[in-house]
Amino acid sequence: MEYENKIFLGDCGDILKGLPDNSIDLIFTSPPYADQRQKTYGGVSPDKYVDWFLPKTEQFLRVLKPSGTFILNIKERVVNGERHTYVIELILEMKKQGWLWTEEFMWHKKNSYPGKWPNRFRDNWERLIQFNKSKKFHMYQDAVMVPVGDWAKDRLSKLSETDLSRDESKVGSGFGKNVSNWVGRDKVYPTNVIHMATECTNKNHSAVFPVDLPKWFIKLFTQPGDAVLDPFVGSGTTALAALQLGRKYVGIDVNPEYVVISRERVAETQISLFSIAEEREEYQSTKDSEPTYKGTQ
Ligand SMILES: C[S@@+](CC[C@H](N)C(=O)[O-])C[C@H]1O[C@@H](n2cnc3c(N)ncnc32)[C@H](O)[C@@H]1O
Repeated sequence: MEYENKIFLGDCGDILKGLPDNSIDLIFTSPPYADQRQKTYGGVSPDKYVDWFLPKTEQFLRVLKPSGTFILNIKERVVNGERHTYVIELILEMKKQGWLWTEEFMWHKKNSYPGKWPNRFRDNWERLIQFNKSKKFHMYQDAVMVPVGDWAKDRLSKLSETDLSRDESKVGSGFGKNVSNWVGRDKVYPTNVIHMATECTNKNHSAVFPVDLPKWFIKLFTQPGDAVLDPFVGSGTTALAALQLGRKYVGIDVNPEYVVISRERVAETQISLFSIAEEREEYQSTKDSEPTYKGTQ
């Protein structure tokens, strides 16, 4: 398709009008935060944020496949000493637009440095809000399994009688577990809290997220060959992640400088992926042409 594997310059609400309905498998993005970083890429007043965003999410809804997912990385800022409600208002308005608010992940920023404020602690996490068009969306949970961890060695080596059957919650929460199900497994499913360091290397953009963040969601919600859109692509991190995982990308940014940076980063990744593929092919053909020794020694 002619819109795939491209970084576009312009307002995402306008550019997306050129994309067909139901064409994208995953939208992963971090929009400009309300009123922040006005000097670098223009801020939107917190009070006007929802009105600014809704025409864009209308396009996101149209281009997303019914089996697709939209992950919105956002955090409400503090205005006059209290958290502004624009994220909550946005969720409510998006539900009216037809979105399902399916889940919320938390990105715990592992490497935040300490700070002191008179009435709060350092903000060490961000929201990743999951929206869907339908309850039957694609999710590949096995792709993000994590090592079971050292606790399992001790805990699973001596199972009690309760461990061998489903143990219902003693506090009546309705949650039960069968510990013996985990015997012999070296991988388990993660939680909805993602522990990841922030991006510290300068990509000539003030709000770059680490490439592993979009990668985690791309693995969870798409398969190779699927299309990933970042409508506020900035320095191109989501496009890189998609490319490295063999997915197609569509990136949009309103700032020409960021479009240049994104395109350059994508081109560099394409070149290095190409040379790795070439090296692999060369290695394989050398191996294939090696004589195989049969018979006596
Ligand atoms: C938080 S940054 C994204 C950073 C990106 N995740 C990265 O890793 O580099 C938000 C981006 O949205 C862009 N932007 C702002 N308004 C836009 C609009 N209406 N359409 C498209 N992009 C826009 C800004 O130029 C900025 O690069």
